Amino acid sequence: MRITYYGHSCFLIETEGKKVLFDPFITPNELAREIDINNIQADYILLSHGHQDHMADVEAIYKNTKATLVANFEIVSWFANKGIENNHPMNTGGKKEFDFGSVKMVNAIHSSSLPDGSYAGSAAGFVVQTKEKTFYYAGDTALTLDMQLIAEEYKIDLAFMPIGDNFTMNIHDALKAADFVKTNTIIGMHYDTFPYIRLDHKEVKNVAANAGKELKLMEIGETFTL
Ligand code: NI
Ligand code: MN
Repeated sequence: MRITYYGHSCFLIETEGKKVLFDPFITPNELAREIDINNIQADYILLSHGHQDHMADVEAIYKNTKATLVANFEIVSWFANKGIENNHPMNTGGKKEFDFGSVKMVNAIHSSSLPDGSYAGSAAGFVVQTKEKTFYYAGDTALTLDMQLIAEEYKIDLAFMPIGDNFTMNIHDALKAADFVKTNTIIGMHYDTFPYIRLDHKEVKNVAANAGKELKLMEIGETFTL
């Protein structure tokens, strides 16, 4: 499985010959100015919730790729009205088999509304099970005991967790979340993009290491194979 980071909470996962993009927020992100969204290929776009820092580039990337948009019913319907016809609506608790693996939409504790104020349903995370790896993409969320249910159903190899604090979990809660889902590998997200969520990388890595967890903070544009 190949993982590419495009900043904030945006990752491209390549597995089974398919490209799955999560929460594209690239062109408004100063830190990601080196990334040209016209070079991004995707077969699927998964959205955790309706906030702009998770979906600012959906329409532009869809125009280029015609990738299937996977999100909750409200968000998919909102984008369908804007012409995004390749879509697959889900809702919290539901699971669906795609050609790259299965996706379960799981609970996230966070708000969600669309840019024009429309109702965006509940914020969500995803558990994705592929032939190569099973991972948890937490989205924007607080720590919640619901995460323990994930470990009852899945063997999680790695987890994408928000660590920026203020709007989401911080590193301490993310470490507890990693215990709840029973993984030792965390890829950090939702940090540094805005002044409220700037992090001391050394410090958070130390906190993770002291807890016996591996925290990976990817460079924007970096790709690695797992
Ligand atoms: Ni949010
Ligand atoms: Mn956010």
